[in-house]
Amino acid sequence: MSTKILAFESSCDETAVALLIRDAQGAIQITHRLNSQTALHAPYGGVVPELASRDHIRHIRTLTEEVLAESGTPLEDLSAIAYTAGPGLAGALMVASAFAQALGFAYQKPLIAVHHLEGHLLSALLSEPSPPFPYVALLISGGHTQIYAVEGAGQYRLWGESLDDAAGEAFDKSAKLMGLPYPGGQALEDLARQAQNLPPPSVLRELPRPMLYSKDAMMSFSGLKTAVWHWVREVPRGQESAHYPFIAHQFQEAIAAVLCQKALGVCAQSAIRRLAICGGVAKNGYLRQVLQSACAQQKIDLFFTPMEYCTDNAAMIALAGLYHLEQARPAGAFSIDPHPAMSTLSI
Ligand code: KG4
Ligand code: ZN
Repeated sequence: MSTKILAFESSCDETAVALLIRDAQGAIQITHRLNSQTALHAPYGGVVPELASRDHIRHIRTLTEEVLAESGTPLEDLSAIAYTAGPGLAGALMVASAFAQALGFAYQKPLIAVHHLEGHLLSALLSEPSPPFPYVALLISGGHTQIYAVEGAGQYRLWGESLDDAAGEAFDKSAKLMGLPYPGGQALEDLARQAQNLPPPSVLRELPRPMLYSKDAMMSFSGLKTAVWHWVREVPRGQESAHYPFIAHQFQEAIAAVLCQKALGVCAQSAIRRLAICGGVAKNGYLRQVLQSACAQQKIDLFFTPMEYCTDNAAMIALAGLYHLEQARPAGAFSIDPHPAMSTLSI
């Protein structure tokens, strides 16, 4: 018997739909579609919640029809319907939640409310090869920076997190200070790469590596962003293109050093020799390199979530839904919880 989960994600600025089919042998096949709202929000320098909700409404039905058509799956065949219940923007969450509930009611399918962060933590399992449990997950997104021991599906032990800005937020805000468009992560990485082919400017600073030597897994990135602001202010007018690539490079170096040290610190303390990285910032090529060499040195197996599943997507929600269904976890259906403090998962 195969299991078929249709999943929706609309917590922020991506409308995403996925269909996950697990066949009788346990092989997983995923069909997914996504509409990114980046261009819609770019002129405002950040996500405008009302525009986000309206755009989710505009796309969710078409994306669903495309996914069902591509996979050749009629709604009657579904085993369950999963959706992101939170955290996220209230109006945006309501779109996937209402859509899922309407389909569930009409076709009499069980509903599974999924925590967005659980989706990210399990997205590492979509890598090839995938990490066996337990693994340490470095979850680095636009809204969260946390390190968990993932002991099994539904068993998440939080070891540390950022006390202030998330890593992605620090990328986005630093990028904005250098005039890059929102969201700035990828643009900042591209800018940093230019530093390799430029002569270094006369004044080259080293940016702070906040809390690098605190003995726990706590982090802080708002001071790093402020240090970028000070450096940007000192760049003489007209010389931005000679200086900014170096600022971007130093920023990346500082943030990667902290994330790497903290993640490997949790691997050491928890005695779990497997590390997975997930969330939008896990796309960063420089960070991937730094982690790769540190993990090779310390003989830790490193797993990268596939690029397409690092940023928000519905495949990870479908996968979390599959585990909920298998474990018959309390559904928590017919609910959304948009509270921003709903930000950690625990066993
Ligand atoms: O996981 P995600 O889609 O959203 C949240 O759940 O928050 O992550 C989005 C974040 C943004 O801050 C974006 O700038 C960052 O991921 N990001 C990157 C890169 N690509 C996306 N940060 C650094 N380097 C990248 N290449
Ligand atoms: Zn996310």
